[in-house]
Amino acid sequence: MSATSPARLLQQAQQVTPVLAERLVAWQRQEGRHHLPWQGVRDPYRVWLSEIMLQQTQVSTVLGYFERFLQRFPDVQALAAAPLDDVLTLWSGLGYYSRARNLHRCAQAVVSQHGGVFPRSSEALQSLPGIGPSTSAAIAAFCFDERISIMDGNVKRVLSRVLGWDQDLSVKTHERALWEAAQAVLPAREGDMPSYTQGLMDLGATLCTQRKPACLTCPWSDICQARVKGDPERYPVKTRKLKRSERESWLLWLQWQDQVWLQQMPDKGVWAGLWTLPLLDDEQTLMALLGDKLGALIEPQPRTKHVLTHLDWYLNPRRLVLGDAAVAARLQRSLTEMASSGRWVPVADLDNWGLPAPLRRLLQG
Ligand code: ADE
Repeated sequence: MSATSPARLLQQAQQVTPVLAERLVAWQRQEGRHHLPWQGVRDPYRVWLSEIMLQQTQVSTVLGYFERFLQRFPDVQALAAAPLDDVLTLWSGLGYYSRARNLHRCAQAVVSQHGGVFPRSSEALQSLPGIGPSTSAAIAAFCFDERISIMDGNVKRVLSRVLGWDQDLSVKTHERALWEAAQAVLPAREGDMPSYTQGLMDLGATLCTQRKPACLTCPWSDICQARVKGDPERYPVKTRKLKRSERESWLLWLQWQDQVWLQQMPDKGVWAGLWTLPLLDDEQTLMALLGDKLGALIEPQPRTKHVLTHLDWYLNPRRLVLGDAAVAARLQRSLTEMASSGRWVPVADLDNWGLPAPLRRLLQG
């Protein structure tokens, strides 16, 4: 079968307009999710915060973080005024920490450039740090009824299927064509935009899943081109796979009295700005730092694998409990030469430090 052209895709979109949007809006109101804590209000601060948290994290994980964030930072002014370290501490465990740094920068930009009020158009929202096309569309549609389509992974799948878009979405022009079709199928009524947008997300999360979509209960089952063609799981077509790599690191877990030695990661990289045990690229460097006598006292801990989108990271913790103040002071000097930001932190106080999730699990058991 020949591949679909962008013109054919747009034609297909026009054929299912307005039925597609009307059915989705009705379905969302009946069957969709209504009790998530960022719903039911049209406060761009809450919607923005939830959208950033939900970018790479499941709803069930986000719920607790969202509530804690709002308690500590009830509005954009409070977030903008907080030290970055406090934001990273509250984000600790959610992963992808560039989101937290951008969140903080964005709050500061809203306060300094927009008088503490989020701009009302998706176009203006996109000029803020960390807000891309899909997030700006979600905020504008949910809070200001703007007729603009979101385009996250779920929506690409749902719309590729219903419109039968069989072109490779790794190619920018093909993704762009899908977005144009997405614009063509939006509801005519601005007031339907919040239900429609939530409906796209809900359909993707509950019925139109990657594997085994529940076509029989789908509101679009009779207009879905992927279903007509018989193999909805084939959509969306995406050929370019993410290039993954592996990395191995050694973690020096020094304990002295009831404290551990932590240092802050540089501003760039996977755990930028977070506090970790000293990280070394090989075991020889770690041993050289300790010397033979201390090296013999090391208690190796099990190797763990930390999976990131682009990287499998193997971590090898090496634990050493120090009994001697002079030895602790010598090691402190050597470590401070390597990274000036280190310090002893009481184990009982670790909750107040921004640690990456695997480190928190390791140190707090
Ligand atoms: N994922 C991204 N935005 C969401 C929302 N508003 N509700 C549920 N899941 C989402």
